Amino acid sequence: MQKKILVTGGTGYIGSHTVVELIKEGFEVVVIDNLSNSKVEVLDKIEKITGTKPVFYQFDLCDFERLEACFKKEGNISSIIHFAASKAVGESVEKPLLYYRNNLQSLVNLLELMRKYHVPDIVFSSSCTVYGQPDKLPVTESTPYQIAESPYGNTKQIGEEILKDTCKAHSEIKSIALRYFNPVGAHESALIGELPLGTPNNLVPFITQTAAGIREQLSVFGSDYNTPDGTAVRDYIHVVDLAKAHVISVKRLLENLNKSNFEFFNIGTGNGYSVLQTIQTFERVNGVKVNYKLVDRRPGDIEQIFADTSFANKELGWKAEKGLEEMMSSAWKWQQTVK
Ligand code: WQD
Repeated sequence: MQKKILVTGGTGYIGSHTVVELIKEGFEVVVIDNLSNSKVEVLDKIEKITGTKPVFYQFDLCDFERLEACFKKEGNISSIIHFAASKAVGESVEKPLLYYRNNLQSLVNLLELMRKYHVPDIVFSSSCTVYGQPDKLPVTESTPYQIAESPYGNTKQIGEEILKDTCKAHSEIKSIALRYFNPVGAHESALIGELPLGTPNNLVPFITQTAAGIREQLSVFGSDYNTPDGTAVRDYIHVVDLAKAHVISVKRLLENLNKSNFEFFNIGTGNGYSVLQTIQTFERVNGVKVNYKLVDRRPGDIEQIFADTSFANKELGWKAEKGLEEMMSSAWKWQQTVK
């Protein structure tokens, strides 16, 4: 029988790509999303790619009653992938309570209902932000946490703690937290991709919008870092590779292959690229120019981070397959479809 997977935030950027991979692998998918940062048309795009439109509920996960009604109606949920969360670092500094409520109350609601309705497994969207600026690179899963730089980062650290404590106290619950590095790119069909509302905060959407003439100029934040070209270094990961890591994690939990009730993995490529290298790769593979200037550092940015992915490679049997060129070409192909 098809296993039913509940995907929260399933119309969002990483969520929608993961729904596609789940359907491709034969799972039945139920999506919950409040559409605060995504559009309902994404479901039609998912149907175009896979031939299947997932069941959809529109509500906020902080609404315990609606969530309970969904658990009751759906009945036999095998596993949850929990993406739904607010994710703008700067906004979280302005509106910390919104972030603590959205990102943590929703998680607690889900865990309480998982216990009540006997749903055993949850895969959680964590972030490399839990590491802050590590002393040693690349970062392994045993690299210690640094004090979070923002309420957003704090919600990811606390989210992991909530899962760890819950899995310890209630052994019927198992969880995997995936610590994403910098997700970029879009599905090869160019039917789904990242749709930031307003001015993008993240580098790649800003690059594509500048190349498309929507933004006049890209500011490169900081050119005096202690890196080969002075600009900051990140581990960019293709969103489809990231989506596949979720499918593998769901299967690991369903098949009880996990080594402990709470596991966490770095999901990156292991390669660090600077902001300038990223822009240059974009220009080269797409044959377009990006108008940019070097400006001061952005407050709160770290100098460099990239993942040691050997634990995920060995334990999950997962490895990123797509390189920076594919990330940049798919991001551009997607941007050109956005009206
Ligand atoms: C990458 C590099 C910028 C925009 C954040 C979150 C993290 C994760 C992903 C998500 C940095 C530089 C950017 C621009 C630039 N979470 N930059 N000009 O900050 O590494 O990570 O997003 O939901 O938790 O913290 O990603 O894409 O914003 O920046 O020069 O206009 O690009 O300074 O060095 P970041 P980013």
